[in-house]
Amino acid sequence: MRNSNMTLSKYLINEISVDPELTDLSSLLIDVATAVITISAMLAKGALGGYLGSAEVENVQGEVQKKLDVISNDAFIEQCQWGGQLAGMVSEELELAYQIPAEQERGRYLLLFDPLDGSSNIDFNVSVGTIFSILAKEDNSAATTQDFLRQGINQVAAGYAIYGPSTMLVLTLGRGTHGFTLDRDSGNFILTHPSITIPEETSEYSINTSNSRFWEPPIARYIAECKEGSTGVRNHDFNMRWIASMVAEVHRIILRGGIFMYPRDTRDPSKPGRLRLMYEANPMAMLVEQAGGWASTGRGRMLEVEPTSIHQRIPVILGSKREVERVERYHEEYDAGTDTPYDSPLFGERSLYLDK
Ligand code: AHG
Ligand code: MN
Ligand code: MN
Repeated sequence: MRNSNMTLSKYLINEISVDPELTDLSSLLIDVATAVITISAMLAKGALGGYLGSAEVENVQGEVQKKLDVISNDAFIEQCQWGGQLAGMVSEELELAYQIPAEQERGRYLLLFDPLDGSSNIDFNVSVGTIFSILAKEDNSAATTQDFLRQGINQVAAGYAIYGPSTMLVLTLGRGTHGFTLDRDSGNFILTHPSITIPEETSEYSINTSNSRFWEPPIARYIAECKEGSTGVRNHDFNMRWIASMVAEVHRIILRGGIFMYPRDTRDPSKPGRLRLMYEANPMAMLVEQAGGWASTGRGRMLEVEPTSIHQRIPVILGSKREVERVERYHEEYDAGTDTPYDSPLFGERSLYLDK
């Protein structure tokens, strides 16, 4: 139920009253929310702000940065580094972990973020977002790269901002997933979507089908069955959406159900997926699990993946629990060689999908 008095600050004060240890974390989240408001204001100016277009430099991922990737990254660092809660940060846009300036007070939290997600959409006024994950260290010594390499189950908070027709902050501190909408008149985030629950049943899938020739057989099987709709084994029709902004996709899915997939594919064997584990997959996985959904690599729970590097890529399958579990089962059956050839004419030749 919407309560127009429940601002983000009040919500956090309530959380602190349950667990006083959340005081520093809450201060950090207020800084994150302020950075989100700064980014939201810049994005809202669109072409009038002079921020659109390419920055004409590549980031560590080999992707050409947009001006707004750089500006959003700077806004996040600037807003969050002075609060005294952080031991270090990791950003999609920075090759190395960011060190808090030596003269500055440090805390024990680690902030990992994708400052602008879906940035290919920025120049066209399509929804983009920010994703963040927060881990905690034992002490407030300067963070080493190793300190960041913790399984997603260790996240103490995670969230995303979506910059759409309205700006929203969707947050979890491990006690449910809650959505706040920015009231631009007062500058407050208001709790508008408390305790979000992902519908279990769904008929909507999200995947970039232009990659279908590179998919592994379990993914090809799942999508083929969805496409067969009421004429196939699923016995009902499906719908499809692909915005190319993970934040927008996940936001739709947590509110009305569905499954999102950016699976492993064979395009570039050095990349086991498109999305990054530490600041895209893990925070989304925590939000989705806290909303009653499930997040997987296809071959295991996302939040239990042991990270090996801060910019590591990973296959992502998340959303309504039953659908994600079905995709996991298809991987299991394929790996065990127990999947049966499909009735569909598409799969008349199962060998089409076997590894050569
Ligand atoms: P980013 O803009 O941070 O690099 O992330 C974009 C991601 C994600 O938001 C989206 O799901 C996916 O890339 C889209 O990839 P394709 O263009 O391959 O569909
Ligand atoms: Mn991204
Ligand atoms: Mn990004």
